[in-house]
Amino acid sequence: MATDPVVVWVLCCLAVWVVVKCELLSDYECPANCSCELDPPFTVCTGYGATSIPVGLPRSTISLTLTGYNLSELDLWELSSLTLLETLDVQSNKIRHIKGTLEVFPLFRELKLENNKLTNLSPKLFGNTVKRLGLVSLKGNPLNCDCGGILLDGDICDCTNYICECNIKWLQKQVKSYPDIWKGAYCHHGSSKDTAISKVDIEDFWCRTKHCWYLTIIYLGLILVPILFCRCWYKKKTINRPDLVADNQLNTLARKLGKEWEHLAIHLGITTAEVDRCKSDRPGNTLGQISDMLKLWKEKKCNDATVGNLIQGLKSFDEGSLDKDKYEFLRECDNRSCSSYTPLIGNIQ
Ligand SMILES: *[C@@H]1O[C@H](CO)[C@@H](O)[C@H](O)[C@H]1NC(C)=O
Ligand SMILES: *[C@@H]1O[C@H](CO)[C@@H](O)[C@H](O)[C@H]1NC(C)=O
Repeated sequence: MATDPVVVWVLCCLAVWVVVKCELLSDYECPANCSCELDPPFTVCTGYGATSIPVGLPRSTISLTLTGYNLSELDLWELSSLTLLETLDVQSNKIRHIKGTLEVFPLFRELKLENNKLTNLSPKLFGNTVKRLGLVSLKGNPLNCDCGGILLDGDICDCTNYICECNIKWLQKQVKSYPDIWKGAYCHHGSSKDTAISKVDIEDFWCRTKHCWYLTIIYLGLILVPILFCRCWYKKKTINRPDLVADNQLNTLARKLGKEWEHLAIHLGITTAEVDRCKSDRPGNTLGQISDMLKLWKEKKCNDATVGNLIQGLKSFDEGSLDKDKYEFLRECDNRSCSSYTPLIGNIQ
């Protein structure tokens, strides 16, 4: 089948024309309730209380006006396809918060925010566009110039590397340095009259303490960790307190006790089951059984296993039926003179 090159050429041209035409049409498409001028490419939309901004705005737009919307948040990412945008006018839209950054518009110059509900502006919103801004108008926004609040609010401070700057203080700095660019910034004080931000003395208390706050936690940690560690260490050491009865004292005592030991054990707080276990562990070895019982008492009493407490227990046994000679030797050791004492520090495995 022979194809006429002229027909191919015409078809190609037609295809190119359709594509170009479509591209142009989509570029100049205008959303409902908007008016889109082509030269210059200015777009003006009226919201009539709508809660979202229109989609399909012409991408060639260099000046966009949105007004009469009911937006509590303006998300700049939703406009990021407008790469030629220089002017954004969002007056009277009930905006409380602006999300994103103007850095997405490389040619950005003017931001009109009048009559919204903004209480704060973050330096992050402006980023490096701050150097080429020609106008930021803020009249009619209830700016909150109190930087001394207690609440941890990410909208109040801009923190990088634990260094925080109060947003409103940053804004005041811009207003004072470039009064021809930053216009209409008034601090709102409830019922009394709003004051120009340049005339307000902003306390930077909170943002500075936020910085200190992190440090305080770190310092407290540095102090508390060793204290807790020492406490545990000290507790371990005190198990070997000299007033605690020593194992060789218990062995000596065991040698002096006779068949009364089982009743004595119950008197000292050892259970019948435990006595039976002591007996079955060392069948036929009474001395070993008594020793085990006394060591069990020491284990159970823990820090209360003192010589004094042991003497008390022996003395009160069966209304003093136990011969004094059997335990008086403990008393001699009860005032640190006994060589069998384990010293306070040392001998720790
Ligand atoms: C355009 O505005 C009218 C009110 O004048 C409203 O009813 C309608 O929903 C709006 N259209 C869009 C797409 O916002
Ligand atoms: C604006 O929108 C909020 C909900 O997002 C609604 O509660 C409020 O009534 C709206 N205001 C107007 C004037 O439409």
